[in-house]
Amino acid sequence: MFDINQLVRKNVLRLKPYSSARDEFQGQASVYLDANENPYPTGYNRYPDPHQIAVKEKLAAIKQVDQSNIFLGNGSDEVIDLLFRAFCEPGNDNVVIPQPTYGMYAVCAGINNVDIKYINLTNNFDLDVDATLQTCDEQTKIIFLCSPNNPAGNLITTTKAETLIQRFTGLVVVDEAYIDFTNQPGLVPLLNQYPNLIVLQTLSKAWGLAGIRMGIGFASTEVIHVLNKIKPPYNISILSQQVALKALDNEVRKNEWVKEIISEREKLIIELKKLPQVIEVFPSDANFLLTRVKDAKDIYRKLTERGVIVRDRSGVVLCDNCLRITVGTSAENEIIIRELSQL
Ligand SMILES: Cc1ncc(COP(=O)(O)O)c(C=O)c1O
Repeated sequence: MFDINQLVRKNVLRLKPYSSARDEFQGQASVYLDANENPYPTGYNRYPDPHQIAVKEKLAAIKQVDQSNIFLGNGSDEVIDLLFRAFCEPGNDNVVIPQPTYGMYAVCAGINNVDIKYINLTNNFDLDVDATLQTCDEQTKIIFLCSPNNPAGNLITTTKAETLIQRFTGLVVVDEAYIDFTNQPGLVPLLNQYPNLIVLQTLSKAWGLAGIRMGIGFASTEVIHVLNKIKPPYNISILSQQVALKALDNEVRKNEWVKEIISEREKLIIELKKLPQVIEVFPSDANFLLTRVKDAKDIYRKLTERGVIVRDRSGVVLCDNCLRITVGTSAENEIIIRELSQL
């Protein structure tokens, strides 16, 4: 039986959260003298909705989930940090990170003084369920999965992720920042079955809104309640909420971008594979490609000199001599292929 009280830090369990002016009065009024705001209208003189109800309504309809299962963060990075602060006792608990993966799980663990137990993904960057579970101990609170994974680009096999969620008594976070670039539904449809599952998504990738900082956590109402308890009261600005509301009305545009990026990704794979420096291009369900080359550092340096910036991932586990290339516009992708072929 899932019991959130066994997982939440005791101080968080006891915490009396901050109650904002907008928490204490939620109706409509003609005179607001309760939040020490400046009364002169600038468009932004009032605090934003602390619960971002309008944005959540739109997301709930798009993602086919209940609003009560949605948490919004100042980027997914804020949600990741809040998960540590809510569930991991500094100096005592640990998290398990199958690697290589997105670097912020480890950084947030470090900031929060939480131990990390690493386990390698398999050679094709998939999950080894038994080895991952064996890495966990009594103090393991969270396992972080990323699917499609960064930097490899592949999806973690859904049945493996599901087995892990079933067998692990703590929380499993599945970061789906790149889920729009696959034809798979991801794990949001499993939320009702698994109260220990947390799915992260973001408006930073397919929706083209990295600049507004809006990350989404989908989880059981118990988990959402804890996150709401500890978040800064007004963590999403009015500007971000307004931009998100407008963008979410245009799912068609997002889908067109995704289609275009996927088609460009497939072209880029074909062109990269023709190049003599390229040893391998890993299959990708994301908007980037991981490619193993003959000398990653040298190629990275030469590309940079030519004004083309990719990510050198050669220092990362299982990624010897690997570069990560984001799929750009058709023109940008032609430039990188031209520059690579001239090296
Ligand atoms: C796997 C993964 N998760 C989360 C993020 C960050 O998302 P956000 O912009 O919502 O903080 C990134 C950014 O590159 C990422 O690769």
